[in-house]
Amino acid sequence: MADIEGIKVLNLNLKERAKELSKKYNVPLLTSESPETFISIDDRTILHSGNNKLENSFSEGKFYARISQYQSESLLKKAIGWQSTAQKHILDTTGGLGHDAFILTMLGQKITVLEKNKGLCVLIEEALSNLPNLPYFNDVRNNMSVINSDSRAFLQSVENYDVVYVDPMFNSKKKLKRTKQMEFLDNYLGEYDDPSVEFYESNFKRLVIKKELKAAPSIKDYSAISFKGSSVRYDVYLKGKNEF
Ligand SMILES: C[S@@+](CC[C@H](N)C(=O)[O-])C[C@H]1O[C@@H](n2cnc3c(N)ncnc32)[C@H](O)[C@@H]1O
Repeated sequence: MADIEGIKVLNLNLKERAKELSKKYNVPLLTSESPETFISIDDRTILHSGNNKLENSFSEGKFYARISQYQSESLLKKAIGWQSTAQKHILDTTGGLGHDAFILTMLGQKITVLEKNKGLCVLIEEALSNLPNLPYFNDVRNNMSVINSDSRAFLQSVENYDVVYVDPMFNSKKKLKRTKQMEFLDNYLGEYDDPSVEFYESNFKRLVIKKELKAAPSIKDYSAISFKGSSVRYDVYLKGKNEF
């Protein structure tokens, strides 16, 4: 899998932040060189992959429209078994840009985001750190943690989470209308991974798998329930005494 070869700081006021990220993710701080894939840190943080660039913001651009209507995410709420009175701890096993995780956190949940690509982890962390200083965003920052790991490392500890969430979707064989960000991810990551089946075999309480509306289920289990939208659906699997 492709990943960043370093972090380049373009705004010297942000050098300490860049150093911190370079240490945490064990990638070099670059000076003049620009390898094929790297992160540049300036007023905006950018993931470069050849001539392509990817930015991630939770408070600007297209994703902000989704955030501003987060209360209407009824499918996602049903999928996780949302309750107004209880906070669930969710394990997001395919973090990506952290968008679904961010919405779930806005909905009052606590999320541990697992993403095996370092470049994407940096983009999520930077998007969190650049959020405006507002009480509801500060709550999100406190309730969302990002870990750079293959999520399979957590297969033995899923019983500590109320919900296990898997979204392997962007590389689906069917032609879902793709955003530019999805196209970038497809080209940048290069390889497709889907830990759904391994998590299905684990000791989860509630497993949610996001799929394209018409895609075949990852797992054939006739006790599953699907919550369907216009282009995606959530397949929900339960174990033990949990209820849909
Ligand atoms: C479709 S994207 C997820 C998008 C995400 N739900 C969002 O809202 O931004 C899938 C991501 O899962 C990551 N991934 C796939 N398999 C993984 C694994 N076993 N462990 C950790 N991350 C994984 C890929 O690197 C990719 O970034």
